[in-house]
Amino acid sequence: MAEITTNFDSYERRMWAGRAAAYTRSAASLCGAVRDQVLDLAEVAGGKRMLDVGTGPGTLAAAAAALGAVVTAVDAEPSMAEATRLAVPGADVRVAMLPDLPFPAGSFDAVTANFVLNHVGDPAAAARELARVTAAGGRVAVSVWPQPPPPLQALWGEVVADSGIPLPEAPRVEADRDFPRTPEGLAALLRAAGLEAVRVETVSWTHRVDPEAWWSGPANGLGAMGTRMLDLPPGSVALIRAAFDRGIAPHLDGDGRVGLPTSAVLACGRPAAG
Ligand SMILES: C[S@@+](CC[C@H](N)C(=O)[O-])C[C@H]1O[C@@H](n2cnc3c(N)ncnc32)[C@H](O)[C@@H]1O
Repeated sequence: MAEITTNFDSYERRMWAGRAAAYTRSAASLCGAVRDQVLDLAEVAGGKRMLDVGTGPGTLAAAAAALGAVVTAVDAEPSMAEATRLAVPGADVRVAMLPDLPFPAGSFDAVTANFVLNHVGDPAAAARELARVTAAGGRVAVSVWPQPPPPLQALWGEVVADSGIPLPEAPRVEADRDFPRTPEGLAALLRAAGLEAVRVETVSWTHRVDPEAWWSGPANGLGAMGTRMLDLPPGSVALIRAAFDRGIAPHLDGDGRVGLPTSAVLACGRPAAG
């Protein structure tokens, strides 16, 4: 696999290591909520060569296979690649890490990266690599979470503040490599990667999730919240959990699920004609 060149990528490799099951239980349904929109933006269809980058447990890869696409999927985390191999038996699944994909230029008609550019240390290089492996006339489609965070994601900051437990700063992409997590920022990133006809849309919805499943992500070390909780003594984790319970209480529905608004920024583009 490619060499890790940024501190943020090192952090990401540690954060995801062995956590495919934890992700599948907690955040996979959230990320999967825009599955069909991202596949549409990439124009995935039967017979097309599709590459899903940062595939996780293979949510998009499985849906593309069901459409009849010829699916290749990669993830930097071996436990994710293994989960996708099981979920999408006909797919070519590999462990590979942006910004270096093990494919010749122009190998795919549709390339997707669903909530992945927000997990790489060099987003511009990653976007260039997505464009490189896309064939002329093909499509790249990506998604990221916006900043400032929507209510669902903002809840964690409110929980920490309410708990009174001081947590270290969340790890961030180095400032000179980062991009604005806005529709304009994502569009500019794709254009700078050499993509044309760039289109961006913001998708908003209410995410409904079992509170135990939602808590289980950070409780098992996932995300900026989870990595910062890993070294806390049990008493501090219990105080954060109590603040979590207070925070979600106003948002519980009749079925006992948390329902909070969220949104994602989606974008697509096609390689410039050569
Ligand atoms: C938020 S998850 C999204 C997973 C999947 N796309 C989905 O929609 O459920 C981010 C995924 O990107 C992977 N990832 C993070 N950095 C990566 C990189 N540099 N190259 C490839 N995959 C990466 C992680 O291992 C994880 O599986």
